[in-house]
Amino acid sequence: MIDAEKLIRSHVRSMAPYEPILPFEVLSQQLGIPAQDIVKLDANENPYGALPAVTEALAALPYPHIYPDPESRGLRRALAEYHGVPFENLLAGAGADELIDIIMRLFLEPGEAILNCPPTFGMYAFDAGVNGGRVVSVPRLADFSLDLDAIEGAVGTHQPKLLFLASPNNPDGGLLPADTLERLLALPLIVVLDEAYVEFASPGASRIREAPRRENLIVLRTFSKWAGLAGLRVGFGVFPDSLMPHLWKIKQPYNVSVAASAAARVSLRHADQLERIGRKIIAERERLYAALQGIPWLQPYPSQANFILCRVLGRDAATLKADLARKGILVRYFNKPGLDDHIRISVGKPEHTDALLSYLKQVPL
Ligand SMILES: Cc1ncc(COP(=O)(O)O)c(C=O)c1O
Repeated sequence: MIDAEKLIRSHVRSMAPYEPILPFEVLSQQLGIPAQDIVKLDANENPYGALPAVTEALAALPYPHIYPDPESRGLRRALAEYHGVPFENLLAGAGADELIDIIMRLFLEPGEAILNCPPTFGMYAFDAGVNGGRVVSVPRLADFSLDLDAIEGAVGTHQPKLLFLASPNNPDGGLLPADTLERLLALPLIVVLDEAYVEFASPGASRIREAPRRENLIVLRTFSKWAGLAGLRVGFGVFPDSLMPHLWKIKQPYNVSVAASAAARVSLRHADQLERIGRKIIAERERLYAALQGIPWLQPYPSQANFILCRVLGRDAATLKADLARKGILVRYFNKPGLDDHIRISVGKPEHTDALLSYLKQVPL
């Protein structure tokens, strides 16, 4: 008899289990509220969904029975043109998530370290664990800015190969200042700049065009937020020349499905419509922010993304999240040190903001 579990890689055996989110349909069933009536402000999705042209293209896909182009040439050509970056420096993936994992697989020998600056997106630490890497954490300061001196100290002590930074950062929505990035790029490591939400930030915030020119900068982007394609899983990265041949070697050949690729290409063809929707979401974010400031027991943080983090004062944030869920309004609660008195609210349509505010305003002080 063989003990199959014993054969599992030891770092995987000792990993804590991953806590997956509940699927939307299951939540709707649990709450007894029809899915279409749920105000879903918990996962930073685009409330306007995919463009109608995308839905049409998906319904008319000519070759779903044929494997996709392993090099995603059509999509990369469209991305190169839209973003003004070289075709050769682009790699598409099944969401930015897949690219985060590929980067770890490219660089980390077992036991080697990444540098992580929590609170931030959970997949950096998660993928490091899956890949047998170590996570060196340098927590952010109270205002969610980076502790640069501590980062420089940790680089000297632990020699991490990779530094993952989201800009805007999830969960607070703050942007990485240009001079901070310069200081970090001077360190002996690769900086992975995750710009999943940058379309909602001030114009010119993205550093995407710099990646091909810098030896140690990778920029990641996604169609999940701006283009409303979270369910289709498509993102991309811009990498320095030297990494490209090695990335091509380790990527799964068919990582971007024909549906995801078609949806992304059609989205880029109608980028003007997405830009309009993006402006609507930004305007709604500002309205939501102003309204949240008017709730005496909430302290919202200014955000450059499509969500707003709020500190909850004088009451329990987990209970608030649960009370809102019973009304069919889903927001994100983080059961983590430093964040356990916060909720994060995605920016929805105006009617979603109205539903949320009407509940928050009637909560007794
Ligand atoms: C900072 C950040 N990066 C990446 C992602 C995931 O992007 P994708 O859906 O393209 O995998 C998210 C999703 O929440 C995120 O918050």
